[in-house]
Amino acid sequence: MLAGVPVEIRPAQATDVEALARLAALTFPLACPPGSTAQDQQAFIDAVLSPERFADYVADQQRVVLVAQSDDDLVGYTMLVAGEPADPDVRAALTIAPTIELSKCYVHPDHHGAGTAAALMDRSLDEGRARTAGGMWLGVNQLNARARRFYERHGFAVVGVKHFQVGGRLEDDYVLERAL
Ligand SMILES: CC(C)(COP(=O)(O)OP(=O)(O)OC[C@H]1O[C@@H](n2cnc3c(N)ncnc32)[C@H](O)[C@@H]1OP(=O)(O)O)[C@@H](O)C(=O)NCCC(=O)NCCS
Repeated sequence: MLAGVPVEIRPAQATDVEALARLAALTFPLACPPGSTAQDQQAFIDAVLSPERFADYVADQQRVVLVAQSDDDLVGYTMLVAGEPADPDVRAALTIAPTIELSKCYVHPDHHGAGTAAALMDRSLDEGRARTAGGMWLGVNQLNARARRFYERHGFAVVGVKHFQVGGRLEDDYVLERAL
């Protein structure tokens, strides 16, 4: 897989779930803060990012899974989750309804800084609008400066804080939101 090869953004299919789980396992640790252990990250990967979980996500009408494909490889993915968030900290922070969550946004490191993430973001925003959401929100680790910079450049602003369980550790996130 080479940066510079054209990237297609498309909805994920049932046949993508093995490749999605491999990509997710590779990229999830990149979003974790320095204190997060490999053991905690693996527990999260096993529980949330397995092929079986991705099969559920792809089939779920409340979710949209988008993939970035370059040649035969998946090089990035996003997942949207429609509906009101369950976390009371998030509900208190959000200013726009109805909302949709950008629950996952991950690009293979070989494709960082190459426009793949921007293409995934543009399509994700379009999908949120197509689902008639008025706003989009996400959680990002407070120490993930690169992702925060990326989201800010795409119109998101901090509206609150929340916590995120990764294995045995409770991580500190910012809640970001933007209008659609
Ligand atoms: C988040 C992610 C999808 C963004 O994709 P990307 O291709 O890196 O995005 P871009 O290169 O367009 O933008 C990254 C921005 O962060 C900046 N940046 C890069 N490294 C940085 C660092 N260490 N600290 C601060 N900013 C940094 C870049 O300069 C760029 O900003 P600019 O365009 O204003 O100069 C990608 O980095 C990724 O997959 N990261 C790992 C997984 C992750 O953290 N996902 C988010 C989970 S909430």
